[in-house]
Amino acid sequence: MNAIELLETQHRDVDDLFARIESASGKARGKLFDDLADMLAIHASIEELHFYPAVKAAKTDEILEHSTEEHVGIKRKLSICMALPSASAKFLELLRELKEEVQHHVKEEREELFPKVRTLFDADQLEALGQEMTSTMAELQQGRPRFDVPLQTLAPMPLTELPTQGSISSRVMPHLGRLLALPLQMIGVAKQLGKIPAAGLGFLRGVQRGLKRKREA
Ligand SMILES: [Fe+2]
Ligand SMILES: [Fe+2]
Repeated sequence: MNAIELLETQHRDVDDLFARIESASGKARGKLFDDLADMLAIHASIEELHFYPAVKAAKTDEILEHSTEEHVGIKRKLSICMALPSASAKFLELLRELKEEVQHHVKEEREELFPKVRTLFDADQLEALGQEMTSTMAELQQGRPRFDVPLQTLAPMPLTELPTQGSISSRVMPHLGRLLALPLQMIGVAKQLGKIPAAGLGFLRGVQRGLKRKREA
């Protein structure tokens, strides 16, 4: 599957999951939301680690700057949703906002970025890029990628060319500097959560659980 086909398939899967979450309730809703959070985490990662850097080399900087900023906005909203009980009214309200942000972002990728990429890359290049993305996706699917999302909400992912060899952790390593900014980020998120303090605590616990799982992995 070439790179654009892969991303478009995931865009449709995400859309489908939003619809299923909205019509689900109870534990089923929480489970479907976890699937959505993992799927969005993987999708953003393979775009940021492979697709956007490859495309950046082909002079689409302005579009990509906008895209990575939108990714951060989506990750912030996703992180807050992860900290809320999926049965709460606040969760449903934020889930609706998240869905709108994701749909807006997907529309821009589909209408502005992908057509440009199709003119800059040939079929073989898109196929090769799709294979790299598929292999990173398979590695990320081994874990729970949603727990990495709160750590990626301070600043947009730097779109550096990453080595294509080596394990996923060696490729992600250059981006771990963002972890150092975590305390600042927590203050920012705590401010955002000012209206819902209980969720702030839940969020902190979620981040702690995520870090613990990473250490144990
Ligand atoms: Fe994207
Ligand atoms: Fe996308």
